[in-house]
Amino acid sequence: MRSRAGLPAPVITIDGPSGTGKGTIAGRLAALLGWHVLDTGALYRCVGLAAARRGVPLDDDTALGALANGLRIDFEGDRVLLNGADVSTDIRTAGASEQASRVAACPAVRRALWRLQREAARPPGLVADGRDMGTVVFPEASVKIYLDASSQVRVDRRYKQLKQKGMDASLPSLTRDLAERDRRDRERALSPLEPAADAVVIDTSALGIESVLAAVLAAVRQVLPDAEQRGAEPGAEGRGKQSTEQPGLAPEQ
Ligand code: DC
Repeated sequence: MRSRAGLPAPVITIDGPSGTGKGTIAGRLAALLGWHVLDTGALYRCVGLAAARRGVPLDDDTALGALANGLRIDFEGDRVLLNGADVSTDIRTAGASEQASRVAACPAVRRALWRLQREAARPPGLVADGRDMGTVVFPEASVKIYLDASSQVRVDRRYKQLKQKGMDASLPSLTRDLAERDRRDRERALSPLEPAADAVVIDTSALGIESVLAAVLAAVRQVLPDAEQRGAEPGAEGRGKQSTEQPGLAPEQ
């Protein structure tokens, strides 16, 4: 199995703006392959939440870097634990999205999370979703996917998602928030959101999840024809086909 330059296991990266289905596709793909999955947006959300709770200014790079280095973030199935407490719902509010987007512009936070993200690459393989997985965190990834969609479609998807969860949602404010976060993600100096030069770009505007998954699987099988066998091997430390376990990320010692 190919695992390029220095990585202990092959990595598939899935990048793109919010509302393109990255998280769903990453989870489904990892389950199919029997690989680990890492939702890197949740890491930024945890840092933003911890900063807001502790009153750390969201533009204080040094303080935010120290904070990020000291957090323990664990994934247990669909649950996200921040220093042992379940924050799965707290990190998905509109406020938490805004806080995450702001701390994500801080170089010290990105440096702290870079190390944690790299450590998540473990056998039999990792599917990592985010904004800079293919460009900055795993430039040597075996397969790089970039999912895109029109702003309108992404706002509509987010609206439906929030409503389904019984959360408050208003289309005008979601439209404003998405435009602002897109701008911040794309224009920040460090690790801006952009497709890697060697990424497979898929516009999901008119596609359902199954069609996107089929396109992603086709791209993966071209480069890694034995990806599924690897995850199914006896003794593979992967997630197992049905498991949703993600690697635990401990603070810097
Ligand atoms: O994917 P998400 O909406 O959960 O991400 C939350 C925020 O974190 C979003 O504003 C972009 C930022 N982010 C980032 O800058 N880099 C990543 N690898 C993942 C997320």
